[in-house]
Amino acid sequence: MVHLKSADPEVHAAILAEVRRQGDGLELIASENFVSYAVLETMGCVLTNKYAEGVPGRRYYGGCEYADVVENLARDRAKRIFGADHANVQPHSGAQANMAAYFSVLDAGDRILGMDLSHGGHLTHGSPVNFSGQLFEARFYGVRPDDGLIDYDVVRAAAHSERPKLIVAGASAYPRTLDFAAFGEIAREVGARLLVDMAHIAGLVATGHHPSPVPHADLVTTTTHKTLRGPRGGLILCRQELAKDVDKTVFPFLQGGPLMHAVAAKAVAFKEALEPDFARYSGQVIANARALAERLAERGFHLVSGGTDTHLMLVDLRPSHAELSGKDAEHALEEAGITVNKNTVPGETRSPFVTSGLRIGTPAITSRGMKEAEMRQIADWIGYLLAAPTDPARIGEVRSAVRELCDAFPLYPELADV
Ligand SMILES: Cc1ncc(COP(=O)(O)O)c(C=O)c1O
Repeated sequence: MVHLKSADPEVHAAILAEVRRQGDGLELIASENFVSYAVLETMGCVLTNKYAEGVPGRRYYGGCEYADVVENLARDRAKRIFGADHANVQPHSGAQANMAAYFSVLDAGDRILGMDLSHGGHLTHGSPVNFSGQLFEARFYGVRPDDGLIDYDVVRAAAHSERPKLIVAGASAYPRTLDFAAFGEIAREVGARLLVDMAHIAGLVATGHHPSPVPHADLVTTTTHKTLRGPRGGLILCRQELAKDVDKTVFPFLQGGPLMHAVAAKAVAFKEALEPDFARYSGQVIANARALAERLAERGFHLVSGGTDTHLMLVDLRPSHAELSGKDAEHALEEAGITVNKNTVPGETRSPFVTSGLRIGTPAITSRGMKEAEMRQIADWIGYLLAAPTDPARIGEVRSAVRELCDAFPLYPELADV
């Protein structure tokens, strides 16, 4: 970043500090990951200069021949990874992908049925503070309070009584396998469309480590930057019959020019996702989550649903640490270089800004090469620290142990001298 260093020392310094922060800490936020250096390079390329409104072969600007090349590669690879008829790789984010997917089959005011935010759903699945709750009539299903699992009979009953035009399946904080066949059956029973938002599990689906929603859903949306390990962005998959509706809802209805550098970086990440190494990585993400969850449970932590099938787990602190909120636990861990996020848990009694839970995920630390032994070590540090979360000596002790572990799994050696 030699040019940036002289052009804008303040931004350069902040980026440098962020490089160190990412390298020196343990990233356990379930929705984050570390892209390959090839993806990182592509995100900083000259395609950021190019306007390419439209789709390959039908653009509103000249000079799109190379934009077409990268977008076709991204679309073809996305279709190949997921076995989908059609892919739109232009959504700027997961939220934009969801908005475009909704409006490709719904009108404002239509009814949707999604998973409650406080039970693990996402803001864009009908929350009143989000466009999805304001522009559509949202109804919700949740998880069973006793075991934290989705009860498909309850979803079915809600679908039959509410008669939504669209059912949304998918979550931000659900640690177990989702039964997309059951969602598909329920949607068909009530004549609703099914949208699956697989943002969190896309990398697991890509490699067969989670069942695919594609055969069961009318529309599948995802972010590209979580388990899929691509650049920040969104993706929509659909059946051929909805292809035109999806494309024209992304542009011109919702977005302007696509971010072509991000589309190119998606293409690069999708190529990586088709390689055997990525399948091994995905399997290790799950093995690591299991190892971490098991050790946390051995140390007395209560895991919602009893464990995990995926890349994430949800810790309910109330049974083991009644006085400790998710917010304070998050803060204590952050002081020691372990980044997690506070999360509401089923039957939550604290506010969403305080919460009684933690969401913990393994995609990012697995990208650094860590395996089960490191997971057990990390769980031990979490247990040790949260037993005395304000003890400065403990925080310091864990901080230096975390630093040592991170040094053994270097991140972006290419950026060592920037
Ligand atoms: C299930 C789900 N859908 C959509 C999104 C939104 O993605 P973005 O932040 O890219 O808008 C998220 C983000 O966390 C998510 O978890």
